[in-house]
Amino acid sequence: MLFERKKSLDLILATAEKRSLKRQLGAFDLTMLGIGAVIGTGIFVLTAVAANKAGPGMMYSFVIAGFVCALTALIYSEIAAMVPVSGSAYTYSYAVLGEIIAWMVGWALILEYAVAAGAVAVGWSGYANGFLREIGMGLPIALTAGPGDTINLPDGTTAAGSFNLIAFLVSLLITLLLVLGTSKSAKFTAMLVIVKIVALSAFIILAMPAVQSVNFSPMLPNGWGTPLSGVGVLGAAASIFFAYVGFDAVSTAAEETKNPNRNIPIGLIGSLAICTVFYLLVSYAAVGAMGAQPGGALSQSKEPLAFVLRELGYPQIGNWVAIAAIVALPSVVLMMIFGQTRILFTMSRDGLMPESFSRVHPRFHTPHVVTWVTGIAVSLFAAMFPVGALADISNSGTLFAFFMVAAGVMILRKVEPNRPRPFKTPLVWIVGPLAMAGCLLLFFSLGWYTIKLFLIWAVIGLAVYFLYSRSRSHIARGDAIPTLEVPPPTIGG
Ligand code: ALA
Repeated sequence: MLFERKKSLDLILATAEKRSLKRQLGAFDLTMLGIGAVIGTGIFVLTAVAANKAGPGMMYSFVIAGFVCALTALIYSEIAAMVPVSGSAYTYSYAVLGEIIAWMVGWALILEYAVAAGAVAVGWSGYANGFLREIGMGLPIALTAGPGDTINLPDGTTAAGSFNLIAFLVSLLITLLLVLGTSKSAKFTAMLVIVKIVALSAFIILAMPAVQSVNFSPMLPNGWGTPLSGVGVLGAAASIFFAYVGFDAVSTAAEETKNPNRNIPIGLIGSLAICTVFYLLVSYAAVGAMGAQPGGALSQSKEPLAFVLRELGYPQIGNWVAIAAIVALPSVVLMMIFGQTRILFTMSRDGLMPESFSRVHPRFHTPHVVTWVTGIAVSLFAAMFPVGALADISNSGTLFAFFMVAAGVMILRKVEPNRPRPFKTPLVWIVGPLAMAGCLLLFFSLGWYTIKLFLIWAVIGLAVYFLYSRSRSHIARGDAIPTLEVPPPTIGG
C-alpha cells in the first residue's frame, strides 16, 4: 500500500522529549521571531509587483492573502502545540498522512524555503543596488539583475540583466555564516524587527497625509482576475501571499518554547496579526499617495517604499528606509536557508535524502554539507531569476504544504480524537475547509507558468521518491531512527 508507511506521533514526541533543548522562549520572543521571518521582500519589494498586477485593488489582495494566512495560522497553532517538534509540515504529514505525502510536502517545502530565500535575496539587491547608485558606487547595469529580469533606467529606457551579483554574493555569505554556526539569536532578531517596524511606521506616517482620492481610480484596472492568468486582484493576492509567509517559522521553535501550549498559538497568531495591520496600512498609504496603476512608476520600482518617500519629497527618509531594508532583509534570507537545511536534515535522518545531508561538521557542529548544497542553489536562483517569479514559485510550494497541513489537522481530529490538544482550532470544520479552499484559490490564481513549474517539480519529486528514497526509507527498512536529533536550532541566546 502506498500510504501505509507512517511514523507514529508517539515516537516523534518521545524523541523530542529526549532532546531536551532548553525551553527558554516566551510568547514575546516567538512573536518577534515570527515578525522577523515575515516582514521582508514581500512588503518592501513585491508591493510594486502587486501594483503591476492589480493596480490600486492590490489593497484587496493584501486582505485576501492575509485572510488565508490567518485561517492557516489557526490550523498550525493546533498541530504545533500538539506536536511541538521541528521539521514543520513535513513531520506532521509523516505522522498523519504517511510517507509519500510527507515526501511530497518536504519536496514542496524546498520551494517554500530555498526558493523563497532566493526571492528575498533578489528583493534585497533591489534596495542595495539602489543605495550603491545613490552613493555613486553603482554596479554595471547588467550585474544588477538576472537574465530574465529587466531594469528600468533613469532615462525611461530598459535594459536586460545578466547576473545579479550582489544577490548571489549575499546568499553565499549567509551560507558561510550558517556553516560557521551563526544562528538566530532572539535578541538580534528582536533588534531587526524594531528596525523594520520603525521603517514601515515612518513610511505610513509620511505617506498617509499625501493620500488623494484620485489615486484610487480606476480601482481595478485589471479586474478581479481569472484562474491561471496571474493578474488582477487574485493574481496579485497569490503573489503578495509571499509577504505573509514565514509565520510558520514560529512552529519550528516549538521545542525551545516555555509553555508551548499557550505561547505557540500566541506567537503564530500574534505575529501574523501585527504584520497584517502594518501591511494594510502600508499598501493603503502607498496606493493613495502615489497611485498604483499597472505600468506606472510605483509598479516599476525595485525599491517601491523608498521610491514613494523620495517622490513625496523625503529623499533622506527614503534612504533611511532603504538602509533599514538593507540591514534587516538578510536575516530573512538566513532564516529561510536555516529552515531549509533543518528540513532536509530531518528528511536525511529518515533515509529519504542522501545520508551526507545529515553529516555534522566536527568543529562547527553544523550540518555543513546540506547547508552548502542549499546555499549554492539559493545563490544561483538569486543570481538568475527576477524576484516576482521566485516569489510565485515559492508560494506554489507553500500553498501546497498549507493545504496538506489543514487536511492533516482535520484527519487527526477523526483518527485520534482523544489525543490531548492544548490549542484547538476554533470551528475547525469551517476554518479547515475554508483554509484549504483559500489555498486552492490562491494556487490557481498564480500564473500558468508557475503552476507548470510546480507540476514539473512534483513529477521530478515523485521520480526521486520511487527511484531513490522509497527503498532507503528507514521506516521501510524497519530501522527508523529518531528523526529529531537535529543539531539544536539555537534560537535563544
Ligand atoms: N514573508 C517573507 C518576505 O516577505 C518571506 O520576505
